[in-house]
Amino acid sequence: MDLGYNGKAVLVTAASKGLGKASALALAKEGARVIISSRSEQALADAARDIEQQTGQKVITIPADVSQPEDVERLFQEVRKATTELFGLVCNAGGPPAGSFLSFADDDWQRAFETNLLSVVRLVRASVPLMETSGGRIITIASSSVKVPIPGLILSNTMRAGVQGLMKTLSIELAEKGILVNTVCPGRIATDRLQALDQAKAEREGKTLEQVQQESLQDIPLKRYGEPHEFGQLVAYLLSPANTYLTGSTYMVDGGMVKAL
Ligand SMILES: NC(=O)c1ccc[n+]([C@@H]2O[C@H](COP(=O)([O-])OP(=O)(O)OC[C@H]3O[C@@H](n4cnc5c(N)ncnc54)[C@H](OP(=O)(O)O)[C@@H]3O)[C@@H](O)[C@H]2O)c1
Repeated sequence: MDLGYNGKAVLVTAASKGLGKASALALAKEGARVIISSRSEQALADAARDIEQQTGQKVITIPADVSQPEDVERLFQEVRKATTELFGLVCNAGGPPAGSFLSFADDDWQRAFETNLLSVVRLVRASVPLMETSGGRIITIASSSVKVPIPGLILSNTMRAGVQGLMKTLSIELAEKGILVNTVCPGRIATDRLQALDQAKAEREGKTLEQVQQESLQDIPLKRYGEPHEFGQLVAYLLSPANTYLTGSTYMVDGGMVKAL
């Protein structure tokens, strides 16, 4: 199925590895003109080279920390140099640290707010003027915790719920501009972040990494972690011109893990 990108420009933040990179790769495979961003210039360059080698498409890199307003401003100055129109935006950032309620002070809450919620506000605010002529698509990468909060991830659980409220409201406000807005939620997808969380849990509970992973698989009907490309494929569809009617929804990519209707 041709998703109809035909060189349309899309921006994916936090895309030097993991789910952001997998989304960027899937988008490049579908013929989008991909701009990727993350904090590390070197990691970004490596990711761009890999995507270019796999797809033959040129990838633009712009370093930026999405938790910093001046970085987001500079990011969009560079985006505007690269393109006059942006068709798609994928909002992504690194996940907040694990920990219980009493382990976090105001600074931790503020950092999680800036990184995982306010970043989405700023990215969308800067993108909409670039989308207005031909409409567009916006996705935020959140977490299955929007349906079932995850023990030990209170910062993430709290910010993701805010993101979901924001995205639903945006889908209503931006519909008249032809902008479709959705949230995509990983369950357990095999990335460095998941490995680090499993490792931390193993250390906390005095278990091996393999034990923790085996226990974790018991919650997943498909009995395996997802692969990043399985996540990227859905992002590529939802962000595409071929998606003409899906907006205001939250999609789980979780192998059936979330036991909610
Ligand atoms: N993997 C899962 O199963 C899972 C489940 C639930 C939720 N999530 C959420 O999905 C998101 C992506 O997770 P992942 O598994 O792909 O993580 P990952 O493999 O650790 O990759 C994180 C990416 O984010 C970039 N990044 C981190 N902080 C950033 C910032 N402030 N500004 C810009 N870029 C930043 C990193 O690059 P630089 O270091 O170069 O900045 C890297 O490219 C996270 O929010 C995570 O919590 C993932």
